[in-house]
Amino acid sequence: MIITTFAFSPTGTSAKILKGVITGISAHSTVKPDFHDVTLSEAAPKSFSADDLVIVAAPVYGGKIAPLLKQRLKGWQGNGAKCIVIAVYGNRAFENALTDVSEFMSAQGFTVCGGGAFIGEHSYSTSEYPIAQGRPDTIDMEAVERFGREIASKISGGMLAPVNLATLTDEPSPAESLKNFREFVIGYQKQQAERPRTYLPEVDLQLCDGCGVCYSVCPTEAITEESHSADPTKCIKCCACVKVCPQDARSLQSPFAPVLSANFNHRKSPRWIL
Ligand SMILES: Cc1cc2nc3c(=O)[nH]c(=O)nc-3n(C[C@H](O)[C@H](O)[C@H](O)COP(=O)(O)O)c2cc1C
Repeated sequence: MIITTFAFSPTGTSAKILKGVITGISAHSTVKPDFHDVTLSEAAPKSFSADDLVIVAAPVYGGKIAPLLKQRLKGWQGNGAKCIVIAVYGNRAFENALTDVSEFMSAQGFTVCGGGAFIGEHSYSTSEYPIAQGRPDTIDMEAVERFGREIASKISGGMLAPVNLATLTDEPSPAESLKNFREFVIGYQKQQAERPRTYLPEVDLQLCDGCGVCYSVCPTEAITEESHSADPTKCIKCCACVKVCPQDARSLQSPFAPVLSANFNHRKSPRWIL
C-alpha cells in the first residue's frame, strides 16, 4: 500500500497534526507516508488506485471544511483508493466539516475509511483574545500519534473499511456558551445587513519592514509584493499573514474573536473513528 497525505494549512496546525499522524503510522508500519502541502498550490499525484491510502487534513471554516481544500483536490481520481479525512478546528465546533469533506472525496472515487476531528489554535486567537492557544499541545499530539498507530494496525490487519462519518459528532459545548454565540451571530448578521463591513487583515506600516513573508504565505494571492493591503475579493481571512509576520505588523480585528474567546475556553478533545 502507498500512503500519500495532503494538508491545506494556512496557519500550520492542520499540517502539524497530519505530520503527527504520519509519525504514528511510521512507528508501526514499514510503509512511510509521503507528505504534500497544498496550502499554496495543488500537488501531484492526482490519480490513485485501489491499493492506495490518501489522508487529507484541513481546517474547519464556518462548520465546513475549508473550501480551498476542495479546490486544490478538484478533479482528482480516487479509482477506489481508501481515504482518511482530518478536520482541524479552533475549539468551537467542527459541525459538518467531516461529512462535507467525506462526501467530496467519495464523489471523486475515494472510499472513506476513517476520519478525525482535532483541535488547533484558532486562527483568530490573539494574546488579548486567546482561543485554543498553543494547540495542538503535547496531550493533543499524543492522541494524534495514537490515531496514526491505530491506522497502521488497521492497515496491517487488513481491517481498513468504509465508515460513516456522520456518526462522529461534536463534543457538546455548555448551553450558555451556545446561547451567547448564537445571539452574537444574529446581531452580527443584522448589523452586516444594515451596514455591511468587511474585516480584513491590516498592516501597521510603522512596524512593517517590508520583508515580504506575508505575501509568500498567502494561499489566494490576496496580498502581493505590489499591494500589502488584502484584496477583499480574494482574502479568505485565514490569518496566515497575521501569524507569520515577524514584526507583528499584521492583525485581523475579527469581531468573532472576543465572543469565541469568552465562550469556547473549555478544552475539547480529539475524536476519531476508523
Ligand atoms: C474563516 C475561519 C472560519 C473558522 N471557522 C471555525 C469553526 O467553524 N469552528 C471552529 O472551531 N474553528 C473555526 N476556525 C478556526 C480554525 O479551524 C482553526 O484555527 C484551525 O486550527 C486552523 O487550521 P490551520 O492552522 O491549518 O490553518 C475558523 C478559522 C477561520 C480563519
